[in-house]
Amino acid sequence: MKNIVILISGSGSNMAAIARTAQKEAWQDRRGMRVAAVISNRADAQGLALAKDMGIATEVVSHRSFDSREAFDAALMARIDQHAPQLVVLAGFMRILTPGFVQHYAGRLINIHPSLLPAFTGLNTHQRAIDAGCQVAGATVHQVTVELDHGAILAQAVVPVLPGDSADTLATRVLTQEHLIFPQAVRSFFERCV
Ligand code: GAR
Repeated sequence: MKNIVILISGSGSNMAAIARTAQKEAWQDRRGMRVAAVISNRADAQGLALAKDMGIATEVVSHRSFDSREAFDAALMARIDQHAPQLVVLAGFMRILTPGFVQHYAGRLINIHPSLLPAFTGLNTHQRAIDAGCQVAGATVHQVTVELDHGAILAQAVVPVLPGDSADTLATRVLTQEHLIFPQAVRSFFERCV
């Protein structure tokens, strides 16, 4: 079985989109792929309940329990590796990862970022796109490398920036597209790489 581990920090809507696609398309039976676990660095992440409702194992590794990034990442790696994943998916996982973590999962670690990379790495992407006068915005699925929000682009979706958009209205429009491209990118990863 090809195991996928998904890391979340918040609402988990991208995780749920992947898990729903996995169910709908019978990834486990037809492709030998499954979402083995959802792990959050926050016990109050809403996505944990969504995952449980879908019958997925959930775990919490709180970054607050550790003195350093390295110690947190080491504990997180140990929990992830119990599932022997072929792919680790960052789905709204709002932690900067250490080089050691990234290297450990080199080639099997992907992220979704709410901008058309390489534009607008980092935070507040939607407001920054509006402030810059962008006519389009979007989201990017990419391989994770040591440099934040860099790495080979696997999928992108483009949406218009409309007159009167706020960061919230733009984020909602982008998120709808994230839910389409992220499951497709996970599927394609296994078709290409494993
Ligand atoms: C998504 O918009 C994702 O692109 C973004 O956080 C949101 C998580 O939503 N990720 C980042 O900003 C990573 N730097 P979700 O928890 O509902 O999937």
